[in-house]
This record gives sequence, structure tokens and C-alpha cells, in this order.
Amino acid sequence: MSETKTVLVTGATGGQGGAVARRLLDGGWAVRALVRDPDGQGAGELRALGAEPVTGDLDDPRSLRAAVRGVHGVFSVQPADLTDPDPEAEVRRGRNVADAAEAAGVAHLVYSSVGAVGRGSGVAHFETKAEIEAYIDALGVPATVLRPVFFMENWLSMMPRARNGERVASIALDPGTPLQMIALADIGRIAADAFGRPAEFVGRKIEIAGDELTVRQIAEAFTSADGVPTRFERQPIEELRAAAGEVANMFDWFDRKGYGADVAALRERYPRLLTFEAWLRGNR
Ligand SMILES: NC(=O)c1ccc[n+]([C@@H]2O[C@H](COP(=O)([O-])OP(=O)(O)OC[C@H]3O[C@@H](n4cnc5c(N)ncnc54)[C@H](OP(=O)(O)O)[C@@H]3O)[C@@H](O)[C@H]2O)c1
Repeated sequence: MSETKTVLVTGATGGQGGAVARRLLDGGWAVRALVRDPDGQGAGELRALGAEPVTGDLDDPRSLRAAVRGVHGVFSVQPADLTDPDPEAEVRRGRNVADAAEAAGVAHLVYSSVGAVGRGSGVAHFETKAEIEAYIDALGVPATVLRPVFFMENWLSMMPRARNGERVASIALDPGTPLQMIALADIGRIAADAFGRPAEFVGRKIEIAGDELTVRQIAEAFTSADGVPTRFERQPIEELRAAAGEVANMFDWFDRKGYGADVAALRERYPRLLTFEAWLRGNR
């Protein structure tokens, strides 16, 4: 890169934004990190990595307009609380970022959506992303849409600790259901690549995954990672629906349809994409 270009990264204290910020910094980009609390630990960690935290809020368009001033690109991601869904807030926040990017005339917006978009999932926090994608299309801002699948990092909270010499997790999926997964680091890898190769990426919408394993194979991967026998017990979907309706809708869709990234093509393009086994090795 001849001149240092700056990317505004939203959600930079979180999983995806954090991975994108790290990867961009490693690649020699300047990173402006949108943070709500400039004195918080997350902002401090980003500053230590070399990013410039800027205070802003996805609900405050004025703060977003100030944050995008002078940047080359914007990475946009919005939180989704599945235990207390607020689809309207997610759409509003996604639009706010797109509006700010468009008003500032940024060269490249990379929006992180979700793999299910365009397949009529009916899952609220997937349909929000379809709406944000459509809004970005209508604005005409130069954009790339990345559609990540299930994060490998979800297992950090979903897999219980071993008890009595084994791990038993309950999941509302059939043991034979394939689940596509991606490591956060690879979202960072692909987003940074998109910013680096605008001619190839602007205008594209790409579903991204690093691996695909059945639920049974996921248990086997845990077992062989550290030798602790691991198995899943099937949770009835009605039970999950009673406890967490939005999560149940998503798992029901995983069981019936599921993500559809072209993992083989992605791996050919990015040979270092983490398999689930490799990700587990780094997270034991
Ligand atoms: N988990 C999966 O398998 C999966 C798969 C595909 C897509 N997704 C999607 O990924 C998205 C979440 O991404 P993530 O997991 O990277 O997020 P995350 O780790 O939950 O982090 C959320 C980030 O958003 C920031 N934030 C929250 N409210 C804000 C506001 N009002 N203004 C400014 N910043 C705000 C948080 O900052 P603070 O530090 O200030 O809180 C944090 O940096 C969701 O839309 C989800 O549907 C998830």
C-alpha cells in the first residue's frame, strides 16, 4: 500500500469488529475504532494495538457522521441480543452506519450480514440483515456484503465443562445435521482482504465459512482435541422455544435448511481458513 488508508471499524470491542481491526492493523491499515466507552478496557486494548478509538454510538447518527469523516472504508456490524431481540434497533443501527458512510462518500463499506440472507428463513435476526443489505443496495454506496455462518467461538459458551469424565451438551439439532462454521479470525482475514482488493470485492455478497461438520462430528472433534469423551443430547425444539424463541427459530432453520457457503471454493482461495479441528487446537 502506498499511502496508509483508514478504516472505521464498528463493533471493534466485540468479536467480529475486534478480529477485523486486528487483521487490518496487521496489514498496515490505520484503524479508527468506534467505541461507546473511550475509557473502557476494550478501548484501551484497541489503543494498545495501534487503533484510534473514537467515541460514538450506533444509535447516534451525528456521532457516526463525525467518526467516518476522512476514512477510506467502514466495517459495519450490529449487535443482536437473541435473548431479548430488538429487530427494529438492529435495522436502524445498520441504516445509520450506511447513511454515514454514504454521506461521507467512503470508497468501501463492508457490511457483515449472515449466511441465511435471501433464503426466506423467517428468523428475525436474519431478516434484519436482509433489510440492511437491501438498504445498502438502494443507497448505492460501494459495498461488499460478507455473510458469515455460525461462529466457532459460540462453542466457548455452548459447550459445558467436563463432569464425571465426560462432556455432555444439549442441542436442538439432529446428530446428522451439518453445521457450517467460521472462526472470527477468518472473518477478519476475509474482511481485510475485501478492503485490500476493492476491484474484486465491491458489489459482491459472499457467504463465508471455514468448515462444515455434522453435530456428531463436532462431538468427535471435541473428544479428539483433548481426549474427554463428548456427546450431545438432543434438546426438544419445543423446550428450547419455551426458553428462547429466537434461538429456537434459528436452530430449527439449521435443522431444516442450514447455511450454504461454498467451503471448498473458499478454502481454495484462502488455504489457511481454520478448520474446526485447528480452531479447537488453538482454543483448548
Ligand atoms: N454468533 C454467530 O454465530 C453469528 C453468525 C453470523 C452472524 N452473527 C451476527 O453477528 C452480530 C454480532 O457480532 P459480534 O458477535 O461480533 O458482536 P459482539 O461480540 O456481541 O459485539 C457487539 C459490539 O457492538 C458494540 N455495540 C453494541 N451496541 C452498540 C451501540 N449502541 N453503539 C455502538 N456500538 C455498540 C459493542 O460495543 P460495547 O463494547 O460498547 O458493548 C461490541 O463492540 C449479530 O448481528 C449476529 O446476528 C452472529
